[in-house]
Amino acid sequence: MRIDVVTIFPDLVAGPLGTSIMGRAVESGAVEFAVHDLREHGIGRHRSVDDEPYGGGAGMVMRPEPLFGAVEPLRAAGAHVVLMDPAGERLDDALARELAERPHLALLCGRYEGYDDRIRSVVDQEVSIGDYVLTGGELPALVVIDAVVRLVPGVIQEASHRGDSFASGLLEYPQYTRPETYRDLSVPPVLLSGHHGEVDAWRRREALRRTYERRPDLLDHVELDEADRTFLRSLGFDG
Ligand code: ADE
Repeated sequence: MRIDVVTIFPDLVAGPLGTSIMGRAVESGAVEFAVHDLREHGIGRHRSVDDEPYGGGAGMVMRPEPLFGAVEPLRAAGAHVVLMDPAGERLDDALARELAERPHLALLCGRYEGYDDRIRSVVDQEVSIGDYVLTGGELPALVVIDAVVRLVPGVIQEASHRGDSFASGLLEYPQYTRPETYRDLSVPPVLLSGHHGEVDAWRRREALRRTYERRPDLLDHVELDEADRTFLRSLGFDG
């Protein structure tokens, strides 16, 4: 997979892409990143990328020419172009999985108060990472990249994202590692029992419990069997 990022702060984006699992994904050849400085398409001696809003108002707006200049070659190379924008489609597990299927993504990061609206005519999708506004699209782009790259085959063991919170529609069950007892907190005995069937059943129940307690809204979209329902009813669920 190839991911291009367009930003006026290339260093802000490039650092994390070379670190940890992202860095390993590059070394293994599973992903290739290219970070582009939007100012290369800036206007005039100062390589300006923004200007005051028509109609007046606070803040600056990103001009269309540098954005079009950066995006058009990426589109021509076949990229699926994503504009990072708090007004975009909200990122979730399903969207991350859709984006991970694309061989080539280009993420466009804005700054300041917003973009000249004409940029929307040359992007394929607009994505938000949540209902809050950051000072720019760089951190959101990194969030999207992290969520997507870990799903690319070969980047992490596939079994570890099949059990992710949200992948099954449920939050993830609790996990433990050594030691068996820490302070006065002990690992649930079933996990030490060696009975895979019982471990799986316990994990399913704990995933249901956690989801019911923390995110009952998610249960509307999960396939529940009779054993699941019986267990949830014992917690007070009336669905
Ligand atoms: N740019 C600023 N805030 C953002 C958000 N929440 N999601 C995507 N891009 C953004």
